[in-house]
Amino acid sequence: MDVLLINGPNLNSLGTRNPAQYGTTTLADVENSVTAQGEELGLRVECFQNNHEGGIVDRIHEAKKQGCKGFVINPGAYTHTSIAIRDAFEAVELPFVEIHISNVHAREAFRHHSYLSPIAAGVIVGCGVRGYNLALAHLAALIEERS
Ligand code: DQA
Repeated sequence: MDVLLINGPNLNSLGTRNPAQYGTTTLADVENSVTAQGEELGLRVECFQNNHEGGIVDRIHEAKKQGCKGFVINPGAYTHTSIAIRDAFEAVELPFVEIHISNVHAREAFRHHSYLSPIAAGVIVGCGVRGYNLALAHLAALIEERS
């Protein structure tokens, strides 16, 4: 695996969850699209969704051991609460691009702060599910530059 795509809590319901905010594309559609894009870019993409903070922390460490070169992550609500996920990224010392489907800055104040953004290699917000593809394109360029 070269890149791990991580989706956090409630993103398993993408497509039916609050479509006005997140659209009607399913998580499976997103994962297929990013995986296919990865193939075109010569990157093996693995996909992981988890509703639990510790599960995401464990997967980040495991990915490092598996030779992963970087991450695309939509941390969902953990964006706004999780020091543990930020610490995991700091520990593995690999680049990650943070993506939010909705424009979190146009929403409730509690969504304006991200624990992850200050250490992210890029942040994509409010571009809908297309943001996942934009995030992978940026990460692929970073991986290329570093190789
Ligand atoms: C989200 C924004 C978060 O505030 C929210 O908790 C989510 C989805 C987005 O993709 O827009 O679960 O990360």
